[in-house]
Amino acid sequence: MNSKAIAVMVSGRGTNLKVILESVAAGHCPVDVQLVISDKADAAALEIARQAGVPHVVYLNPKDYQDRAQFDAACADLIDQHSCQWIVLAGYMRILSSFFVRHFPKRIINIHPSLLPSFAGAKAVEDAVTYGVKLSGCTVHLVDEVLDGGSILAQSVVPVLDDDTRDSLHARIQKEEHKLYPATLKRMVEQGFSIEGRRIIWAS
Ligand code: GAR
Repeated sequence: MNSKAIAVMVSGRGTNLKVILESVAAGHCPVDVQLVISDKADAAALEIARQAGVPHVVYLNPKDYQDRAQFDAACADLIDQHSCQWIVLAGYMRILSSFFVRHFPKRIINIHPSLLPSFAGAKAVEDAVTYGVKLSGCTVHLVDEVLDGGSILAQSVVPVLDDDTRDSLHARIQKEEHKLYPATLKRMVEQGFSIEGRRIIWAS
């Protein structure tokens, strides 16, 4: 197993994938993006991966599989085939099956556009604006079987302004995501961590 090899799973625009690839190319992030998997044929992230020369770029159509577990099994096979140590979710909008999460214990990382445990779920940014919080941000966390519930690796905070809309707040959060995700992946690979209860303890 290559301890720096990662598979990135995407569904959309791929701006997080893009900054990770740029960071790798600039020598700032010592991971090796071996595989990108998308569940959406038209995800801009696929083109970003191809342009950057990722060795394996794959679209899998969920409709070609009987159920979620079978689709996830196909993803897991690809990840195992390419010996990826880490599975990095970057705007991957499908809920993962228990099978997949158990197959890769403490090896799946996600970025979420809120300060977890506040505002888990698919409408995190909208929910934060509606609720009226004055601070929001992003969270990089391990994935377990609870939606957006795994141990927290890193967080960044942004202010919520009085005239914010979902889109303006999301844009501010994404600026932070683009710094936090590559920096956290670098730490993960270079420094490592242990887990005490729910707490991530970074190695010194
Ligand atoms: C990011 O803001 C990420 O936090 C969010 O999707 C966006 C993907 O952007 N993820 C979730 O909401 C997961 N629950 P990108 O495709 O430009 O990287």
